Amino acid sequence: MTHTFPKDFLWGGATAANQFEGGFNQGGKGWSVADCARSHLDTDVKDYKKQNEVLMKDVEEALANPDDMDHYPKRHGSEFYSHYKEDIALLGEMGFKVFRMSIAWSRIYPQGDEDQPNEEGLQFYDAVFQELQKYGIQPLVTISHYEPPLHLALEYNCWHDRRTIGFFMNFVRTIVDRYGRYVKYWLTFNEVDSMIRHPFTTGGLIKDRFAPEKFEEVIFQSMHHQFVASALATKYIHEKDPDAKVGCMLTKLTYYPYSPNPLDVLEAQQRMRSTYCYSDTQVFGEYPAYLLARFKNHGIRIQMEPDDLKIMKAYPVDFISFSYYSSSCVAHHTDNLETTAGNTITAVKNPYLPTSEWGWQSDPTGLRISLVDLYDRYRKPLFIVENGLGEKETLVKDGDTYTVNDDAHIAYYRDHFKAMYDAIYEDGVQLLGYTSWACIDLVSESTKQMSKRYGFVYVDCDDHGKGTFNRYRKKSFYWYKHIIETNGAAL
Ligand code: BG6
Repeated sequence: MTHTFPKDFLWGGATAANQFEGGFNQGGKGWSVADCARSHLDTDVKDYKKQNEVLMKDVEEALANPDDMDHYPKRHGSEFYSHYKEDIALLGEMGFKVFRMSIAWSRIYPQGDEDQPNEEGLQFYDAVFQELQKYGIQPLVTISHYEPPLHLALEYNCWHDRRTIGFFMNFVRTIVDRYGRYVKYWLTFNEVDSMIRHPFTTGGLIKDRFAPEKFEEVIFQSMHHQFVASALATKYIHEKDPDAKVGCMLTKLTYYPYSPNPLDVLEAQQRMRSTYCYSDTQVFGEYPAYLLARFKNHGIRIQMEPDDLKIMKAYPVDFISFSYYSSSCVAHHTDNLETTAGNTITAVKNPYLPTSEWGWQSDPTGLRISLVDLYDRYRKPLFIVENGLGEKETLVKDGDTYTVNDDAHIAYYRDHFKAMYDAIYEDGVQLLGYTSWACIDLVSESTKQMSKRYGFVYVDCDDHGKGTFNRYRKKSFYWYKHIIETNGAAL
């Protein structure tokens, strides 16, 4: 059987500015929350107060050490800032149709609350978009990917403060006016469901030390502001360009019940709803009944302005994008069950699935299940904007240069692409495209390691920021190029 994908299928790869771009103190960029990120952040959300204290100390230490690249690896990322021409040429060589990137908010509005944008920052992205255009690659832009300006976090509690909607909209208007002619696909918030799991990197909640019992209310108040902001951004983008499409982006944490015990099945369903509640709100434009019930039962009171719900209803998203790395097992009673790590969660280990060095389990069938679930639920086009495998790798000599024999990546992608094919042709799912995470090696979000490598391109940099930052094509580079060339038929 050949696996030719739909004619206009968008093959590509994904990155995020805070993990990839570097140049954190160049071109007038301000500090973002990510520039203070050390590996022990966001570890135990339950102990919220303690974490907040640790975080404040970290931020002070980070600000006092602006030249430290070793402990703050997101400051250098992969140095796309100085390598963008070479990187985009490599993507062009692979035949990319689409490149997912984010625009660092603090490069455009260094503090977040200025009236005027930073022209030098705007010029950097002018150059990036022009370079992409040269190779016929269309950008897929995440407006906010875990990188709120630090000043908004320190002075306003960022998303908890309603004024952040206005600051965000200044940013949105600036980038849409400037780059709208290049960008047809926009995503408002990366993994919109994740603030409850890591509130600081996503929501910038630093200024106040909220009481732990207020945690849920603080998160949902901040989420409410993001929902309104997302709807206003969608409105603005559509007004400027009726053909542009705006998507939500969720972490597709596909939960399986560990056993047929109805209590395990119920647990899986409840967990699914706890991530779907965010995309349900953005797709249907209203809070789902089960989320309103949670607000009521947990005494959560959301402050709203009179038109908020109308705005959310009037401007829902056009498509659903998501990250998918693995499925996860859950059980009503987890005592004596082995657990393993996943994308921002810990789950019961599934005995049927292989596990990576970081504990993440590979499950291509879970991708097909996820696609079907989402399409049946929303009946809107889907876009896979993150999927991949983090691996430790070694450069080996290859004639006059070096390469990496990353067969594990190739096997992972092959199986996941077949699952996508089945979802499209057997299950009738409308899938717009696929951007692997990450097309070029970058700094890991969860562990802040460079050695957790996802790319088709190896970046010579270690976990301490040491290396030449030279780029090398891996074996998967040539494999993916061939998949794109044949539109999947070479699978
Ligand atoms: C997603 C994020 O959660 O997973 C990315 O959107 C992140 O920013 C990716 O990098 C992979 O996770 P990690 O922790 O391996 O980098």
